[in-house]
Amino acid sequence: MQKALFVTEVGKPVSLGTRVIPNPNLGEVLIKVTSSQILPHDTYGRDSGLFFQSNLPYVLGTNISGIVTKLGPSVTKYKVGAHIFGQGSPLAPLPDSAGLQEYATLRASDSALVPEGFTDDQIATLPTNAVTAFKALFHSENFHLPFPPSKTFDYSSKTLVVIGAGSNVGKLTIQFAKMVGLGSVVAVASISGEKELKELGATYVVDRYSEDVVRDVHAMVGGQDAVTHVIDCVNWVYDLAANLVSRTRPSVIVTLHRADSAVEALERLGKQESRAMGAKGLREHFTELAEVFWGNIGEWVAEGKILTGKFRVIEGLDAEKINEALDLYRDGRPVVQAVIHPNAEL
Ligand SMILES: NC(=O)c1ccc[n+]([C@@H]2O[C@H](COP(=O)([O-])OP(=O)(O)OC[C@H]3O[C@@H](n4cnc5c(N)ncnc54)[C@H](OP(=O)(O)O)[C@@H]3O)[C@@H](O)[C@H]2O)c1
Repeated sequence: MQKALFVTEVGKPVSLGTRVIPNPNLGEVLIKVTSSQILPHDTYGRDSGLFFQSNLPYVLGTNISGIVTKLGPSVTKYKVGAHIFGQGSPLAPLPDSAGLQEYATLRASDSALVPEGFTDDQIATLPTNAVTAFKALFHSENFHLPFPPSKTFDYSSKTLVVIGAGSNVGKLTIQFAKMVGLGSVVAVASISGEKELKELGATYVVDRYSEDVVRDVHAMVGGQDAVTHVIDCVNWVYDLAANLVSRTRPSVIVTLHRADSAVEALERLGKQESRAMGAKGLREHFTELAEVFWGNIGEWVAEGKILTGKFRVIEGLDAEKINEALDLYRDGRPVVQAVIHPNAEL
């Protein structure tokens, strides 16, 4: 048996309990979890059952790193003792691949070795947000920019606007856009973040508190018709994104929450040529890109192309502290990402 933190009732705090240590299935490994970073969707899971619905009791945590303790059938990618990181699955019927427990399974295809020189904590800040940013840019359901980079595609002629560029997903989107040489990236964010965002790869930073963000973005890029790609990383209502995109050129808006209001806003504005859709960053929606992403993410981090996030540590499966960290997302308060050490003593 192992210790785990459970959602036993949707809308109630998570609580400590025990469950069996899972056995790795075909293509999976069992890891001793060293670090698991919690994300806004973990709060939505606790408070409204997002992803696992009434499939209770459930365990949160999709960003996971740890030490391989057992190889499932057909896994040759890792050796026992390797430090790896990967993305768990909140959609699976059982919470075997979840981070807020001492042991978890990871699929070899949705994980990678922790790159040399990096800690399990640092790397645990990446999986879901990096998968989401990568998916938004390169998946056929979203912007569908060619990846691996194509010699015949003109990345330099494209302009991407990132609304909520100061968010973790926003920063990762900027870094991946820089990696393929996108022409210009406009970051809509607090102006206090300008220096950092430009270092990450933003060409321009527009103050999100400006009285006219649309005007400011268009002024930066030479008019509305230059804006054909907009990702909104923070909002739930998408009038800003719909107002930003071109009137004359087919454009794409990618959202991180339900895209319905973006579709409606485009219709209202007479921009029927344009499309809006959500980027679902769970591993189940990422299979098309999993090989290229997980085959390279360690190297991109080691080379400094992709930076790990800032974080703080919570030792042990401390229900009180972890509920408080989940509450910060619920209450919209400033968050430094919390990385949990499930195997540490309380
Ligand atoms: N679809 C998916 O699969 C998926 C995956 C990952 C995340 N998400 C969702 O994406 C959202 C963001 O997640 P995250 O962890 O990246 O967020 P985060 O890092 O916690 O974002 C907070 C930052 O967003 C910026 N911000 C907040 N409100 C804004 C606004 N109205 N306009 C512009 N910027 C604003 C602020 O930055 P500054 O003020 O410093 O600029 C703030 O510091 C969450 O709701 C999460 O659930 C979805």
